[in-house]
Formats: sequence, C-alpha cells, structure tokens
Amino acid sequence: MTHRLWPAGLVPAAVILAACAMPNEMPVASDGAKIFAANCVACHGADARGGAGPDLTAIAARNDGVFPRARMLSVIDGYSRDIHEGRAMPEFGASLSGETVPVDIDGTLTPTPRDLAALLAYLESIQS
Ligand code: HEC
Repeated sequence: MTHRLWPAGLVPAAVILAACAMPNEMPVASDGAKIFAANCVACHGADARGGAGPDLTAIAARNDGVFPRARMLSVIDGYSRDIHEGRAMPEFGASLSGETVPVDIDGTLTPTPRDLAALLAYLESIQS
C-alpha cells in the first residue's frame, strides 16, 4: 500500500527551492574555510601549514609577496597537472564544479566555480 505524504510535485519543488536559496553574494574566506576543513586538512593540516604539502600560509611569501591566483586555481582544480607531475595533490575540479561566480584572476574576471572561489578567498586570507 502506498501512502502519499505530500501532493505530487511538492517534494521536488521544495528541493528546487532549497537549491535556489544559495546566497548569491561572492563567497568569502569563511566559506572556503569550511570547504578546506572538509577536503584539505587531511594533507595540509588544520592550520594549512603542514602535513603532506607545502606551507599554504606562505604561498605569497614564496612568490615575492604576490598571491598567484591563476596558478593556485590550477593547482586546486587540477588543470596544471604538469606542474605537479606525479605528485600527491589530488584534483578537485570535478567535485567543485557547478554554479560559477566572477573572480578577478590576474586582472581578468573569470567565471569560477563557487567552491573554488571560496577556497581561493580562504587561502588568500591566511597568507602570512
Ligand atoms: C592527498 C593529500 C592532499 C589533499 C587532500 C590536498 N592537498 Fe594540496 N597539496 C598536496 C601536496 C603533496 C602538495 C604539494 C604540491 C604537489 O606536489 O602536488 C599540495 C599543494 C597544494 C597547493 C600549492 C601550494 C604551492 O605553494 O604551490 C595548494 C594551493 C593546495 N595544495 C591546496 C589544497 C586545497 C585547497 C585542498 C583541498 C581542496 C588540498 N590542497 C587538498 C596534498 C594534498
């Protein structure tokens, strides 16, 4: 016997509404911090300084004080495998796809998946 708890159509509508409730503003560092905690701390450590990877708070310092947005985006989403050939940093491009926001990538407003933009904002915020 089948019990319909809701009239047909209402549940999908609720799901769609929930998806649309995503904030439209640009992601900020605290959004990225959550994504980092969920995906990155295993290797990079809770303070982003250690573990299996390089110190992520010293990216700008290693780059003459400039945070290299384009290169870091490539590292995270896996475009530039050539830079990290045979290394352990996994690709997140597939899992971080979806809605894009315009991010200033080295002077060009570039549509960037929201989660990637959030991670970028977080990484920039922790540069020492
Ligand atoms: C399986 C371990 C692992 C995970 C998970 C991981 N990383 Fe990495 N990451 C590395 C390693 C190792 C490197 C060193 C570069 C290389 O050889 O790939 C690295 C390098 C980087 C770099 C480049 C730093 C530089 O100065 O060139 C960034 C940025 C970075 N990771 C961000 C992230 C973010 C953001 C996440 C989560 C979405 C993440 N990583 C998840 C292992 C990991």
